[in-house]
Amino acid sequence: MSSSYIATSLITSDQIQDRIVEIAAEIERDTPGDGLIHLVCVLKGGFMFLADLIRAMGDRVTLDFMAVSSYGKDTKTSGEVRLLKDLDQSIEGRDVIIVEDIVDTGLTLTYLQEILRARAPKRLRTACLLSKPARRLVNVHVDYTGFNIDDHFVVGYGLDYGEHYRNLSYIGVLGVDEP
Ligand code: IMP
Ligand code: MG
Repeated sequence: MSSSYIATSLITSDQIQDRIVEIAAEIERDTPGDGLIHLVCVLKGGFMFLADLIRAMGDRVTLDFMAVSSYGKDTKTSGEVRLLKDLDQSIEGRDVIIVEDIVDTGLTLTYLQEILRARAPKRLRTACLLSKPARRLVNVHVDYTGFNIDDHFVVGYGLDYGEHYRNLSYIGVLGVDEP
């Protein structure tokens, strides 16, 4: 059994909060008129980003949640994506923004964008708190990125390692001691 720990803090809580205020303003500025902005949170990793993002936005926000399969306890992607929980509501004709924790290889987000686009939203945008450009296997479009980071496995602020560390208010780099 290997034991994990936070090797370093990468992005502080204050840095995250400041960036989220900027992203919320960008989203609202890019959404003309007074139409609703329907945020689709990708569980579980996206929950904290969503919670802070919506509190930085005005009263045009509606929400829904979906869940897809992730890494399990490993830190490498399987390349396979499975829908674990679908949306409660139809997105047809709506102005939708996918809210994700991190884009790594891009496979998960590509899958999500494909299945959501097939449901005919009026508009489909994506907001990701973190991105690791060096790890990309597929070219996927992200409209709003919080921070580009180097190729580290990171945890905190919704992101986990075997379900641990999601509750941290900052992003840290994971360290693992092999037995
Ligand atoms: P992708 O399909 O390779 O882009 O991976 C996307 C998903 O993998 C994310 O939504 C995360 O759940 C998970 N993931 C990727 N990198 C990390 C990381 O550094 N820490 C924690 N989870 C990660
Ligand atoms: Mg995830």
